Amino acid sequence: MTALDLSLLPDSAHVSDGGRLAIGGFDLLDLAEVHGTPLFVYDENHIRERCRQAVTALGDTAVYAAKAFLCRAMARLAHEEGMRLDVSTLGELAVAMAAGVPPERLVMHGNNKSDTELRAALDAAVGVIVVDSFDELGRLQQMVDSTNQEPPQIMLRITPGVEAHTHEFIRTGHDDSKFGFTVSSGAAAEAVRRAQESPLVDLVGIHAHIGSQVFRAESFAEAVEIVAGFTGPRGLDELSIGGGLGVPYVAGEAAPTISEWAEVINVGARRAGYEGRLWAEPGRAIVASAAITLYRVGTIKDLPGIRTYVAVDGGMSDNPRPVLYGSGYEAFLPRATRAERPRRVRVVGKHCESGDILVREASVPRDLRVGDILATPVTGAYGHSMGSNYNKVLRPPVVFVADGEARLVVRRETISDLLATDVG
Ligand code: LLP
Repeated sequence: MTALDLSLLPDSAHVSDGGRLAIGGFDLLDLAEVHGTPLFVYDENHIRERCRQAVTALGDTAVYAAKAFLCRAMARLAHEEGMRLDVSTLGELAVAMAAGVPPERLVMHGNNKSDTELRAALDAAVGVIVVDSFDELGRLQQMVDSTNQEPPQIMLRITPGVEAHTHEFIRTGHDDSKFGFTVSSGAAAEAVRRAQESPLVDLVGIHAHIGSQVFRAESFAEAVEIVAGFTGPRGLDELSIGGGLGVPYVAGEAAPTISEWAEVINVGARRAGYEGRLWAEPGRAIVASAAITLYRVGTIKDLPGIRTYVAVDGGMSDNPRPVLYGSGYEAFLPRATRAERPRRVRVVGKHCESGDILVREASVPRDLRVGDILATPVTGAYGHSMGSNYNKVLRPPVVFVADGEARLVVRRETISDLLATDVG
């Protein structure tokens, strides 16, 4: 098998003559030594560059979907680069605000916002609340009415009936979906009518999100045309197409760039005669390929005639995507980044179940051994953010590297953190 496709690595990746990998000017093996493993390493300038692409293409309506990866440093970075932030729970709202992001730069999402979440969004006066159901619209109106608050700016989330080409669990634009108001049933039109008639909310636009990890630009073009055809005639000047732009995870995959994606959306909207502003909420495309995860190999089990298992010190608690969606990843050795990888192994974690797989069919160098630092690239989105404490494993730290500096932005959890909420 071939050597690693270096285009999967963060922008600042540099491989020394000896084959060792540095990111942001930092040797990865040194970082693993200092911070331990597992460890998320993010190339800060890579993220900044993606944010700039989004802002250049979309202007003031480029929104970073915080669910992909969120900590205060990330929220601050996206804000500094001119992006708004999409938050979808009280927790995401709290982290963004703790980072100092002005509330008017926040877009509040969620298909089942609690009263506490709605109240927090109203009290903070977030920029836009994206309303997802008739129940929510009613509760929001009641809250505003009973407290004499300013009518909040809202968008209505609609489901345009588009089948995005992606995994079923992360597909959201089709009619059979828990999200939004369906266009085909007339619910979306009815929601617009109710919101426009109400003095308690200020309906500014329409939101749709067709799914995530979508590679085909045509899916977005199709969705935006439908949504624009719905939005324009209703006199609404804001249209958000959500996120969903895919990224390559393994060799051979290709996806549009953020600029290309924005262009497709723009053309689609104009073709449908829409003249208002276009919003988009990329998450994965901003952060996924900015990071790699470092693990240490603890055990290698050769099962003759069956396969070889390489067990590392993390697993489904820091990257549940392979288990959840069957997602593919590459694996390589940062001590020998350009090495040929002729050996086929299965990279697994340390959790107590067989599904705890990180790379189902990994190609690795022949001399991979216990004690090696093994890396998986493109782990910047929905890894750390979907991490868990399964088996009471401690969640890994996050280090941002840039221009020869490394800063710890999330520290490793400790046993005291684990016990802090256990009050029995
Ligand atoms: N806007 C809304 C309303 C969303 O629900 C999402 C993602 C985004 C924006 C950002 O989508 P992105 O650009 O990151 O595709 N855990 C799954 C992905 C779930 C996406 C959920 N919503 C995964 O690991 O693939």
